[in-house]
Amino acid sequence: MSLKSSLGKILLGITLGYLAGQYQEELNYYKNEAIRLCRKSLSIETESVGTKGSDAGVKLEKGAKKGKLFTKEDLWENYRGGKGSKGLHLAIMGRVYDVKKGSKHYGPGGGYSFFAGRDGTKAFATGEFNDAGLTDDLSGVETSHFREYENWVNFFDKDYKYVGKLVGNFYDANGEPTPALKEAHIKMKEAQKLKDEAEEHSKRFPQCNSEWSQAAGSRVWCSKKSGGIDRDWVGVPRLLKPATGHRASCVCIRNKGPPTLGHTSKNADRGDLDYPYLKEYEGCDPDSISCKVKRK
Ligand code: HEM
Repeated sequence: MSLKSSLGKILLGITLGYLAGQYQEELNYYKNEAIRLCRKSLSIETESVGTKGSDAGVKLEKGAKKGKLFTKEDLWENYRGGKGSKGLHLAIMGRVYDVKKGSKHYGPGGGYSFFAGRDGTKAFATGEFNDAGLTDDLSGVETSHFREYENWVNFFDKDYKYVGKLVGNFYDANGEPTPALKEAHIKMKEAQKLKDEAEEHSKRFPQCNSEWSQAAGSRVWCSKKSGGIDRDWVGVPRLLKPATGHRASCVCIRNKGPPTLGHTSKNADRGDLDYPYLKEYEGCDPDSISCKVKRK
């Protein structure tokens, strides 16, 4: 799908979603897609910002030691890039950047001018470009979003000049990090951990291939590339019913060699077949790599 047609679909999706005032799940999907596409168009790294287990908090704090201490009033009154202003600045996570070279985005009339002269951190992940979103108060933001914040901070560090700190939710009047900043750093680490775990999970339990036809009904099967996970094993289809809320789905399970976790002499050559929450497909040979799905 071309970028142009994807954008068209996304914008249509957002509009329809708002009009209907419902379909929250679809709306979230489109919003996430939009953010992903925006990041793609800006080449903002999403995969590996910070190495595994890296100390995002320490890194952010080190950089934030230098520079001027701004107040919110000063930033808002003097740094929105209008006539007679002292410059064009924005803040994210309490870090203030000179974004003059991006004035086509942030200057008066620019598509992202609402970020100028303030700390609108929340909106960098939620896309709420209004008073509710353009704030440095991150209470209620999902932990998974904190990776976005880290990525945006890295983006501004790379592309713009860091000029100081903003007295607000993240730095106190002495320029010292507040508990809110420390909490945000913890959430960044947690968000990275969640992503690493999700990646581990999808490597361990890759999705099945599936097809449907009126004549033959549904079929699921495993291959060395199913679920987009390139691997040296095929596995057998099982229905995975996670304990926590998620929907049951077909995953390919290693059926040979030691299990990924919990190796004992009894399961030394059963792969992950003994993982709980797995269900065999009714009427399907447990060793088969392909199963017909029976209608309930
Ligand atoms: C959470 C949602 C979004 C945020 C926080 C966001 C933020 C930003 C920011 C800060 C910039 C300026 C980057 C710079 O300084 O160079 C930017 C540029 C851009 N954004 Fe977004 N954006 C979002 C959603 C979108 C969506 C939905 C689209 C398209 C459908 C989009 C398309 C673009 C494009 C094409 C540019 C580059 C413009 C240019 O270089 O002339 N963004 N975005």
